[in-house]
Amino acid sequence: MNEWVIRQPDDWHVHLRDGVMMAAVVPFTARQCGRAIVMPNLVPPVTTVAQAASYRERILQALPEASQFEPLMTLYLTEQTTVAELAAAAQSPFIYAVKLYPAGATTNSDRGVRDPLSIDPLLAELERSGLPLLVHGEVVDGAVDIFDREAQFIERVLKPIMERFPRLKLVMEHITTQNAVDFVLSQPDNVGATITAHHLLYNRNALLVGGVHPHYYCLPVLKRESHRQALLSAATSGSFKFFMGTDSAPHTQANKESACGCAGAFTAYAALELYAEAFDQVGQLARLEAFTSLNGPRFYGLAPNEARIKLTRAAQTVPEFIPVGDSERLIPLRAGETLAWQAQRVE
Ligand code: DOR
Ligand code: ZN
Repeated sequence: MNEWVIRQPDDWHVHLRDGVMMAAVVPFTARQCGRAIVMPNLVPPVTTVAQAASYRERILQALPEASQFEPLMTLYLTEQTTVAELAAAAQSPFIYAVKLYPAGATTNSDRGVRDPLSIDPLLAELERSGLPLLVHGEVVDGAVDIFDREAQFIERVLKPIMERFPRLKLVMEHITTQNAVDFVLSQPDNVGATITAHHLLYNRNALLVGGVHPHYYCLPVLKRESHRQALLSAATSGSFKFFMGTDSAPHTQANKESACGCAGAFTAYAALELYAEAFDQVGQLARLEAFTSLNGPRFYGLAPNEARIKLTRAAQTVPEFIPVGDSERLIPLRAGETLAWQAQRVE
């Protein structure tokens, strides 16, 4: 296949940030995606319906003129979150999910939940309302190797939660291991998972061989090749449970290329092209549309987008950087390198 048309995708997990960074990155997501689940890990985090409403307005203001892009907002779960706030979120027309960050697991997760097994009233409310819980699935435990943190989280946290709340709508975010694939497949249809393009394309060698490559550092960290193969199999299996979530997570060049670099890969500028490359690697381009454009809406109970995107096998060069405000730069994944595909909106 060298050229074909698919339904417009949605990004079921993206970081749009705020201020000048938001202004720099929003057009990329809006260009390709009809909708996106917007992560709430701002500083301070988006913890209330009122804060989500005002963040949504700021995103709409940052959109290019005539853009039809719809931001789907989320709330950040804290130990102070109330059942009443979650009930209000479920009633809100623009809130689509609640995000659980284990405290300390990743960027701006300090206000997250220290013990996810101690918030049963909140989980009961989410199970009742049907508002999805999106989970960053890594334990925060200095005794656990960073490459094992996802697998441990499944055993220690996700399995007990799903036993207590079997009808909870849960998305295991940015899965990185065979263990996560197995867990998601072992659960009923109310449990799904997002997979990033970078976890489909790269293993941990990309991060560490020949030097430290900070733009390949993200959380959960890239894993070994056998896990990447498991993710590719899951994404191309035809299962409805797996869908596109880029976890595109912009940080400035200075914050990435540092003695203590931030976690996150910026992929939104060519998300669909990167996914196409991954599916093409395993001869499964025919399954791309379900993953990028159908499975996610199905999980969230929404209609797929009506707009169409044309994918063409034609080389494009990734920009060396994207300007952020007057003086900063954002380095996209694969900066200066070539991509094999081009995605264009069909008018
Ligand atoms: O790599 C990541 N970056 N993983 C996350 O979980 C958070 C994200 C961010 O916000 O930068
Ligand atoms: Zn994320």
